[in-house]
Amino acid sequence: MRKPILAGNWKMNKTPAEAVEFARALLPLATRYPQVEMVVCPPFVALPAVAEALAGSRIGVGAQNVHWEKNGAFTGEVSASMLAGLVDYVIIGHSERRQYFGETDELVNRKIKAALGHGLKPIVCVGEDLAQNEAGMTDTLVAGQVRAAFAGLTAEQAGQIVIAYEPIWAIGTGKNATPEDASRVCGQVVRRAIAGLYGAGFSQAMRIQYGGSANDKNIGDLMAMPDIDGALIGGASLKADVFEAMVRITAERR
Ligand code: PGA
Repeated sequence: MRKPILAGNWKMNKTPAEAVEFARALLPLATRYPQVEMVVCPPFVALPAVAEALAGSRIGVGAQNVHWEKNGAFTGEVSASMLAGLVDYVIIGHSERRQYFGETDELVNRKIKAALGHGLKPIVCVGEDLAQNEAGMTDTLVAGQVRAAFAGLTAEQAGQIVIAYEPIWAIGTGKNATPEDASRVCGQVVRRAIAGLYGAGFSQAMRIQYGGSANDKNIGDLMAMPDIDGALIGGASLKADVFEAMVRITAERR
């Protein structure tokens, strides 16, 4: 049984003080819904305070990015060794980083290796944009992103990873993929690509999230699909009551 995982990607929102206050408001969820794994991903500067506020709770903490080198002259960057011990997860290859910060499949792969080397669990994002979707390229593109991300990883390393399928046209737009389409890509494309790399049995244990305008209205239908194991949530994760509703609905569906 794959345990559902809901991760809130706060993006560039909340000051450290706001982040801590929000994290404290989420604390009761940890004991209320043990069936669901929860992770929050605040901005770098809020990580120490949020990690402290959530220490000992069942709510995990994740970073939103990591650099692939250990240290050095990379102004403005944060390495995996700096995050080790502070966070459990790190989002890698988010479409906003691919789009605005030139992150390529190769860099995503290097970041994953850096994260794994320091005991961090990557949440690896893949997904097609609108033009690629309309051109019927979704399956080839997403499968290619998955294979590139996992290049050179042992099964043991791959087992630490959560994949988030996020169609770019659905992120922050209010347009989510239909549960059927999302589940098809998660199952027939992402899980199948993983099966091709590590075997069918292994791929059945892999957790695959959906992301892109997931909210309390659509999470129930998404979580009812067999190949969707949770969500990477942007906008809707910034409101405590909406996030709680999403966790509750997810717990009810499993
Ligand atoms: P959204 O963002 O839920 O606001 O669409 C999802 C994401 O970017 O991970």
